[in-house]
Amino acid sequence: MNHGKRVGIVGAGFVGSTVAYSLAMQGACHEIILRDNKIEIAKSKALDMSQAASAVRSHTVVSVAEDMSELTNCDVVVVTAGSPRLLGMSRDDLLMINAKITKEVLRDIAKYSPDAIVIMVSNPLDAMTYVAIKESGFDRSRVLGMAGILDSSRMASFIQEKLGYGGGQIRASVMGGHGDDMVPLPRYSTVAGVPLTDVLTHAEIDEIVQRTRQGGAEIVAHLQTGSAYYAPGKSTAIMVDAILKDTKQIHPCAVLLDGEYGYSNVVSGVPIMIGANGCEKIIEVTLNDVEKKMFKKSVDSVQSLIDTLNENNFFEGN
Ligand code: 2OP
Repeated sequence: MNHGKRVGIVGAGFVGSTVAYSLAMQGACHEIILRDNKIEIAKSKALDMSQAASAVRSHTVVSVAEDMSELTNCDVVVVTAGSPRLLGMSRDDLLMINAKITKEVLRDIAKYSPDAIVIMVSNPLDAMTYVAIKESGFDRSRVLGMAGILDSSRMASFIQEKLGYGGGQIRASVMGGHGDDMVPLPRYSTVAGVPLTDVLTHAEIDEIVQRTRQGGAEIVAHLQTGSAYYAPGKSTAIMVDAILKDTKQIHPCAVLLDGEYGYSNVVSGVPIMIGANGCEKIIEVTLNDVEKKMFKKSVDSVQSLIDTLNENNFFEGN
């Protein structure tokens, strides 16, 4: 029997389970399979979510893979596995620990779900997306990183907070890597189509830009137990849904650049068209000199992480 749409989620911690819950509530797919080393906890979460799905009359069933070999024939696999970002830790501190985990996970995904589209969520996001592409051997169109939707949503919520109106009508735009050098683009942000510069002062916009860059850290500081998960989880679910429904909508996502924006063999966040084939088109937005400089700084930061991986012979023996 045709198995229907199947989504695998590797890492069923706060972010992974929020992705699963969000998809289950939407009835976005037939089956969600959670994979986590804490098998009993994952089983309880799967049961709980399946029951929640029944409550909203969603057809989605949530189950658990006790081993990566059970994560077969998924249409989409979301990877959140890795050490979380703890208090005082930058996303980059996680580099070597999470690169090793990503390597193992991606090799298994390539083996057991060879046609899947992969969405990376583990940090440091852009470097992990790079590792995922190299280790899976998948075409770059099939490995995307989640960050731009999250960072843009954070910027939109900060704009709403500052304005006190416009909720649901704000389109904020953020490009670049998911790090402290990300590139919020006020010039491409609007409130119901009205340019941001017409409703906020430059000082207010600067404040929003800085707060967006620190958006993840602000939540880590207050949570004390790890990183954000509602907005990261929902942002990931939006990407999964766009792939499963073949929406062909434009969202900012991390992809491997191959000449776009003048960069190659490095991952960065740019607007892409997402559909059934993953990244179906990369949109090249016109940037002014200041924006180009900020984008370069962000790409250089990601490149330095990739350089660190290479210096540590991370990709040798592939
Ligand atoms: C964040 O920005 C965890 O990177 C994630 O919240």
